[in-house]
Amino acid sequence: MSLLIKNGTVVTADQSLTADVYCEGGVIKKVGQSLEVTTDRVIDAGGMYVMPGGIDPHTHMELPFMGTVASESFFTGTAAGAAGGNTMILDFVIPSPKESLLDAYKKWRGWAEKAATDYSFHVAVTWWDKSVYEDMGTLVKKYGVNSFKHFMAYKGAIMAPDETLVPSFKRCLELGAIPTVHAENGELVSFLQKEMKTQGIMGPEGHPQSRPPEVEGEAANRAIRIAQSIGVPIYVVHVSCEEALEPILRARKEGQRVYGECLAGHLEIDDSVYYNKDWEYAAAHVMSPPFRPKKHQASLWKALQSGNLQTTATDHCCFCAEQKAMGKEDFSKIPNGTAGIEDRMAVLWDSGVNTGRLTMNEFVAVTSANAAKIFNLYPRKGSIQAGADADIVVWDPEGKRTISAKTHHQNVDFNIFEGRTVKGVPKYTISRGNVIWDDGELKAVEGAGRYIDRPPYNRDYEAVKKALVHNAPRAVKR
Ligand code: URP
Ligand code: ZN
Ligand code: ZN
Repeated sequence: MSLLIKNGTVVTADQSLTADVYCEGGVIKKVGQSLEVTTDRVIDAGGMYVMPGGIDPHTHMELPFMGTVASESFFTGTAAGAAGGNTMILDFVIPSPKESLLDAYKKWRGWAEKAATDYSFHVAVTWWDKSVYEDMGTLVKKYGVNSFKHFMAYKGAIMAPDETLVPSFKRCLELGAIPTVHAENGELVSFLQKEMKTQGIMGPEGHPQSRPPEVEGEAANRAIRIAQSIGVPIYVVHVSCEEALEPILRARKEGQRVYGECLAGHLEIDDSVYYNKDWEYAAAHVMSPPFRPKKHQASLWKALQSGNLQTTATDHCCFCAEQKAMGKEDFSKIPNGTAGIEDRMAVLWDSGVNTGRLTMNEFVAVTSANAAKIFNLYPRKGSIQAGADADIVVWDPEGKRTISAKTHHQNVDFNIFEGRTVKGVPKYTISRGNVIWDDGELKAVEGAGRYIDRPPYNRDYEAVKKALVHNAPRAVKR
């Protein structure tokens, strides 16, 4: 299949230019003006923007979690993602405590074979022993994994305490991988959940009150300081509040390599949803960290605008009403997670580009290119240039959509952006040269997506150690 995208404006993180894009065999062959080629299909992108397909660096398709399984499969989730302009996800392998990392990785690889677009995996370190140390090495050297996730919350399940974080971060440094963290103090969450229940608070409003911003700020600061002591970069997922932003800003000012991600949901939705009288409505918003009071959204936007947060994601983790009902009598049993893969790009465009908060190039950076760079996929992904994968979204800045669970393609019965009309929508999504979102028609093919290897970062371990002045060993001769 060959494809020519004509008359559009190519917008990447670095530049905007009038150019045609010619794709063949799944890759971009040429970017240039007035290209003359014989091709299977021509898309006229006049008045539209031709951008790298979105990369959602944080999704959980068919995740077994909190006694149930997320309702979105790798096929339905990546297909819905394509309808929203995405061409790649980074999902998570999450081994149960004591489960071998390699066994879990292979299990997730099997599930993900259904994916319609390309994908890769962060692997969670949920426990620690010598086999975990060795499996991390195998995953990096043999299976193209360069990022490891640490859940600092979910006590009694997948929480990684400091005695796991420290050796795992050190192992990441040795391997040229990057540690990532879900920053919430799980011990405090567990304590505050009990406090809520003692006070008779059993409804969804107990969720944000047991996970206040301080809980996130403490964990973010601790993870960043551990990373600093070890000399390894760190990526903080779903930063939701000022208390977590503070240590990120401080560390970056001090020269520490700290990256932060924020979710479309956290940028746009506030915590009033948990105090709604309708239990189902409130429960549908239960996710961690929770939605925050309004002032935090303004701070997240500023951090995104200034480059202190680099990526946007969704944490797409879908549970339908009957699954959320598992926590009808006790908020701490409501499966945590919300959807958004289909809406992230349009919401970011509408609230970011249409308002002047983001330039179009910054939009590409925060929806695609930065994730590709941080997770070592660039320029194969996240760019429009000869040799890159033909993962492209043709964006119609005048198109409108009213978001609704009744019309979305996500396999879940609720939409946190319900009723919102966005201006700026994907007209065509092209995955490896195939048009899979075709002017309103979803043509995603189950199994068409490919696993993408992410090589480790090339770091000089000895040089990193030397740069850690406060860590330089000082022996005293006596
Ligand atoms: O509530 C959430 N975010 N569910 C998915 C698991 C996680 O914490 O990322
Ligand atoms: Zn999380
Ligand atoms: Zn998550």
